[in-house]
Amino acid sequence: MTGDLRRSSPRAHAWGAGSGTTPEARLRQRLPTLDDVERRARRRIPRFAFDFLEGGTGGDLNAQRNRLALDAVELVPRYGNPAPVRTDIELFGVHCAAPIGISPVGVDGIIWPGATRILARAAGKARIPYIAGTLATAAIEEVAELAGPYAWFQLYGLPANDHAVTLDLIKRASAAGVRVLAATLDAPVRSKRPRDLRNGLVVPFRPTPRTILDVALSPPWLLALARAGTPAFRNMERYVEKPATLANTAGFVQSQIKGTFSWDVLKRMRDAWPGALVVKGVMHPDDAEMAIAVGVDGILVSNHGGRQFDAAPAAIDVLPAIVAKVGARATVLFDSGIRSGLDVARALALGARGTFAGRAFLLGLGALGERGAAYVAAMLKEELETAMGQLGAHSPDALAQLTSRHRHAFDFA
Ligand SMILES: Cc1cc2nc3c(=O)[nH]c(=O)nc-3n(C[C@H](O)[C@H](O)[C@H](O)COP(=O)(O)O)c2cc1C
Repeated sequence: MTGDLRRSSPRAHAWGAGSGTTPEARLRQRLPTLDDVERRARRRIPRFAFDFLEGGTGGDLNAQRNRLALDAVELVPRYGNPAPVRTDIELFGVHCAAPIGISPVGVDGIIWPGATRILARAAGKARIPYIAGTLATAAIEEVAELAGPYAWFQLYGLPANDHAVTLDLIKRASAAGVRVLAATLDAPVRSKRPRDLRNGLVVPFRPTPRTILDVALSPPWLLALARAGTPAFRNMERYVEKPATLANTAGFVQSQIKGTFSWDVLKRMRDAWPGALVVKGVMHPDDAEMAIAVGVDGILVSNHGGRQFDAAPAAIDVLPAIVAKVGARATVLFDSGIRSGLDVARALALGARGTFAGRAFLLGLGALGERGAAYVAAMLKEELETAMGQLGAHSPDALAQLTSRHRHAFDFA
């Protein structure tokens, strides 16, 4: 498989087919699904970092609900009209190879050292959007250079000094050439993540004998660390009192980031940001309506991958009601639970224009290092092509015309 999705064709790369003699073909036989990628990643990432990636909040119920709900969406194939499948779409004026992007994963360098740069590079090559986080481990300027027009920037609210840092980050992203800003709405409080507490993954971080042992038992991760250096909050360093050590920056981040912001602050972001503005973490049609009133261009339906509120519905179950409310007034996007190209097809069939995945891409890095993001991008795209071919849907738009059954769709009436 190649990291360049432009060259992947379903015929040449049919998943599981082929001679099996090249290293790439053998890899595809060993890791045909994200579950296989995940098993390999689990062996190569230190336990505390793997738990940080995989965990939800509370009892992980919302994360599980995301998965169960996606699995339950049924799509009815249509036959008799064969034609080549096209997955490309346009998002906010940028032509993308597939309706699949990379969600922001804060402190990604803990999960795989160097992750932000690897993801940015992979997104640029694969021509898919990458939403680099406020808490990414490379600065937005560097991400924009690596990912080109596919670089998006995720913003948390930093209310101190009348949002001075928020507004400066907006200026920096714009100056770096980023075209899409995704403001995260759905983290009003720091959620309780028992796995991280049990593993001592808290600020200030003090390694315990067990974390040291976990690291010692993860040589590929250590090698990546040696190559990439200690992860740091690169976007934040310039706002921290000197010396901007990791501990100082982590303390600053923890004290400054106040999660969600009011609609008034979103309006200020709107006024300050010249590009497309997406609001990330919408779960209620009325919140989508509020965001549209502020002037956003996109609504990213998401429950943060089940990491914020355990009693929340599955994100896929609120998608149709939000799509119905928004209509053509904004671009509706989706994340939370995507693990296959079939999941992407499900979300598009229920009205999303594009989808994103967080854990899937980081698992790719854990399993395969540098080439892992490209591997997962190509896997998801090829699975999507296969699903579309089977469904008789020749384009992403055609997926939205299919007949689907979605028993647990949330009713807001
Ligand atoms: C380890 C981890 C860290 C995350 N950090 C952020 C973040 O800093 N900002 C944000 O908006 N979302 C964050 N998210 C949520 C993702 O952007 C995305 O909504 C979620 O991962 C989608 O679910 P999925 O992992 O099932 O694809 C994080 C998710 C994970 C797993």
